[in-house]
Amino acid sequence: MSSLGPVASELQLPERIIIITDTNVKPLYALQIHSGLVHYGFRPDIITIPAGERYKTLEVVREVYDQLNELRCGRDVAIVAVGGGVVGDLAGFVAATYYRGVPFVQAPTTLLAQVDSSVGGKVGVNVPYGKNLIGAFYQPRFVFIDTKTLTTLPKRELRSGMAEVIKYGAILDENFFETIIDTFDTLLSPDVNAFTDIIERCCALKASVVEQDERESGYREILNFGHTVGHALETLTQYSVFTHGEAITYGMMAEAHISVNHCGLPQEDARRLCSLLVRLSPPKIPESIDEEQVFEAMFTDKKVRSGSLRLTLINKIGDATFGETPDEHHIKQSIRKLFTDEKDLCGY
Ligand code: NAD
Ligand code: GLY
Repeated sequence: MSSLGPVASELQLPERIIIITDTNVKPLYALQIHSGLVHYGFRPDIITIPAGERYKTLEVVREVYDQLNELRCGRDVAIVAVGGGVVGDLAGFVAATYYRGVPFVQAPTTLLAQVDSSVGGKVGVNVPYGKNLIGAFYQPRFVFIDTKTLTTLPKRELRSGMAEVIKYGAILDENFFETIIDTFDTLLSPDVNAFTDIIERCCALKASVVEQDERESGYREILNFGHTVGHALETLTQYSVFTHGEAITYGMMAEAHISVNHCGLPQEDARRLCSLLVRLSPPKIPESIDEEQVFEAMFTDKKVRSGSLRLTLINKIGDATFGETPDEHHIKQSIRKLFTDEKDLCGY
């Protein structure tokens, strides 16, 4: 992480830099980045937000604006996000809006952020009525990925990131999907070097989609496979039961079942996908919620148009389709399947 200094220097970031990080990542990496930037002649400060999805809010954004003001930051400041997707999304939103936009850099430290959230320019926060509903498209000047940061990442968070990795195989690349199956056990071992190729492939796949449809007027929606059901689960459980990756693990299972009924996904493909997802061991869905509530919560999704749910589904592994409007009956039936035991989740 200390090598961010020379890159920032080479790419001529402004002298004044604010590192935004969270309480967990600050002692692990943000202090190190701070020293590296000082060494290269920058004037950095650190703003720390509480760790966790529950803090990806407008209230925290407001506190960060106030701290930037107290630190006398003007338009000549750059913001560097050091942390997972929560820090990246929130810091990016601050960068997009403070003084109508200041230079922004992503230094992601979770697998999920390295393969997905740091790339593509979506930034934003949650509000009580839905996830990521307030935000902007704002591209970072660069994304600085150091896979060594994964050595300190809890296994649960590593599995959470694997959900997004599996998503890329499911929607865009069947060979990559097979590679994930073949290397799954190695990937969750302590050897983080195994991730280098995986991260590179995910970033390339995401870039290829974003290049074609940066502002999500259509095609970019394929990246939301599993997210309509997943976001509903996260919102309903107030971000306190599932990590983002765990919620979309269930989301992809449900949306795979819908794909079988609605667009002819071969049952064997659905079984292969669900069997891989089950290996991520997401926590059970609490009994306090049911399929009707999940269905209702899906309507806060950004893809809803004129009151109709529009889903990203898959025709086969590696081939996604977006803007699909399946029957309410099929959607509810597929959500109901999530509440059954592991055998039924994958069974056809
Ligand atoms: P996160 O940012 O909450 O990080 C997970 C946990 O790991 C946190 O407790 C964090 O403090 C800790 N942590 C981070 N790096 C660590 C490290 N190297 N070692 C030890 N602990 C570390 O969660 P996440 O899974 O990284 O990101 C989820 C967020 O990303 C969600 O809000 C989701 O909506 C968003 N997201 C955004 C996009 C996008 O395109 N912008 C895409 C996917 C997901
Ligand atoms: N994670 C969805 C997107 O970046 O579009």
